[in-house]
Amino acid sequence: MALSRNVPNKEQDVDVKDGDAPRVPRQSCTSTARVLTQEELDRLRSDRALVSEFKQVKLEKEAQRNWDLFYKRNTTNFFKDRHWTTREFEELKACREFASQRLVLLEAGCGVGNCIFPLLEDDRSIFVYACDFSPRAVDFVKQNPLCCPERCCAFQCDLTKDDLRENVPEGSVDVVTLIFVLSAIHPDKMKLAVQNISRVLKPGGIVLFRDYGLYDHAMLRFKAGSKLGDNFYVRQDGTRSYFFSKEFLNQLFEETGFQSVATDYVLRETVNKKEGLCVPRVFLQSKFTKINPSQNS
Ligand SMILES: C[S@@+](CC[C@H](N)C(=O)[O-])C[C@H]1O[C@@H](n2cnc3c(N)ncnc32)[C@H](O)[C@@H]1O
Repeated sequence: MALSRNVPNKEQDVDVKDGDAPRVPRQSCTSTARVLTQEELDRLRSDRALVSEFKQVKLEKEAQRNWDLFYKRNTTNFFKDRHWTTREFEELKACREFASQRLVLLEAGCGVGNCIFPLLEDDRSIFVYACDFSPRAVDFVKQNPLCCPERCCAFQCDLTKDDLRENVPEGSVDVVTLIFVLSAIHPDKMKLAVQNISRVLKPGGIVLFRDYGLYDHAMLRFKAGSKLGDNFYVRQDGTRSYFFSKEFLNQLFEETGFQSVATDYVLRETVNKKEGLCVPRVFLQSKFTKINPSQNS
């Protein structure tokens, strides 16, 4: 089986549609980072030059615009719906104090709703707040018939700047989902986003996180001239992607008043039979609880 090769930018994300190419994912969980081959190590080590400070400032300024243009180009066709598995539903069940409890969920960085709509379809006793900083993405969410006022409230917001309490009552959310969104935020600003979501989360509430993991295939495939910093890269369309180590993520949340319940690397080989490619995908999947101060005293 051939190893990775340069394929169009679009395939950098895991959950993209890629026409009819057959894929057979095999998945395993591990607590340690993927071990690189010598060739991969050499390639990463040789890619030292960073994008200029001027361009980095521009990318940060234009982050919202670049995501909005992404949705202008791709509309709702880029990401596949993220269907909730039994295991993930079990997580949500565990968040309920009693079986019929109506859960309040915030999907931070919801895109066009690929994560929330399958959930709204399958779980009748859930209310979803959904926000994104691309106005176009939020409009797509609002146009979906499942986004009715009794079950869903979608709004535009920059998680690093706009106080979520303008749209979501303080301490009212049971579960926050962060699915492939923190990776799009500059590492220096991730803490602001986590603090922001913490304000609307109930004490004892949980965060379910899934995002790109260290040494994912997409990280190794960036060409020279794309590196913004440690484990941080820019794509051709100006959107950025950070690749998380377990240690970095746990520290980020622990410094912001959360406790880690579980954090694992999910290793998946995506096999594209048609093209004879086998690519190692790495994601980081975690669950955090917001520390309840009254239980500590
Ligand atoms: C890879 S998409 C994931 C979308 C969705 N969570 C899903 O699973 O399909 C990343 C999303 O994060 C949003 N985003 C990036 N930076 C953000 C910020 N500072 N505040 C709010 N949303 C942001 C982008 O607009 C984009 O829709």
